[in-house]
Amino acid sequence: MMEQKTRNIFFLGKGGVGKSTSAALTALYLAGKGKKIQLVSLDPAHNQSDIFEQRFSGKPVKVTENLSVSEVEIDYWVKKYLSDIRTQMKRNYSYLTAFNLENYFDVIRYSPGIEEYAILMAYHHIRQKAGATDYIIFDMPPTALTLKFLTLPALSLKWLDNLLKLRDKIIEKRQIISKIKMGKKELETDKIRRKLQQQIEDYQKVKTVFEDPDKTLLNLVMNTDKLSFSESELIVRKLSEFNITVRNIFLNKYHESFDISVIRKKYKKCDIQVLPESNRSLLGKAALSDYLSHLDSFLTF
Ligand SMILES: Nc1ncnc2c1ncn2[C@@H]1O[C@H](COP(=O)(O)OP(=O)(O)OP(=O)(O)O)[C@@H](O)[C@H]1O
Ligand SMILES: [Mg+2]
Repeated sequence: MMEQKTRNIFFLGKGGVGKSTSAALTALYLAGKGKKIQLVSLDPAHNQSDIFEQRFSGKPVKVTENLSVSEVEIDYWVKKYLSDIRTQMKRNYSYLTAFNLENYFDVIRYSPGIEEYAILMAYHHIRQKAGATDYIIFDMPPTALTLKFLTLPALSLKWLDNLLKLRDKIIEKRQIISKIKMGKKELETDKIRRKLQQQIEDYQKVKTVFEDPDKTLLNLVMNTDKLSFSESELIVRKLSEFNITVRNIFLNKYHESFDISVIRKKYKKCDIQVLPESNRSLLGKAALSDYLSHLDSFLTF
């Protein structure tokens, strides 16, 4: 398979700091430089329709020559995720129909973790369909959900590793029993084991992309207030535990009274993009482009 060149750019940060606005500005900026861009909102509470003053949906809509925008319908992916599990379980455990499997799905729908898996599934789908896109810019939900999403592949791998060990024990026990009861019998390739191995491979791929700075760029958006400072520190620390590195800081709603050296000292390894507080509305393509045209510099991607 051809190596995929498309890079991810994630915009993350505390609620309301300007993730969606920064993502939209970056998308317009890069598209203006001739890069093929997809701007994708993965936030269940979408903002891009309001920012571009244009109705978006799960299907990408062209906004400029090089930029298309979509807002992922999380509910659709939750349903798809559940129906895929249902199909798999029916296939693998046909005897479960006796236990009225259907009833469990109403409960699973509201289980913790389902939304993250659904978003991961949507992400995977978008990457696969990226084609000649240079950058996919992801406008992320506020911190808690975003951290769960980014660390999900690594955590799932830990689970799957244990499940695989458990499965091997079951296979071993079965073998012993069948030897006693039926004599020597060729062990069939185990369906469940194969499935687990496939999942391990899939999550490993996503994890590798998240950890690779050539494939994934993390932009942390913050403001000059204390709360967004401390939440940003938490994000950087938490992600570094998972080998995921924040590369750029977008210091948004900046005003001149603020001393940037504080940020520079704290985040020595990060590049800093300063986005001044605008006294005009930042809604609509024209307003965003106007804001960009007044910036002294923009990060090189
Ligand atoms: N540089 C700026 N100057 C002035 N206003 C700004 C600036 N950046 C963002 N805003 C405004 O701040 C508000 C929040 O911005 P935005 O929706 O981009 O934040 P967010 O981090 O995506 O929020 P949420 O966590 O709700 O998704 C919006 O009204 C937006 O127009
Ligand atoms: Mg937003």
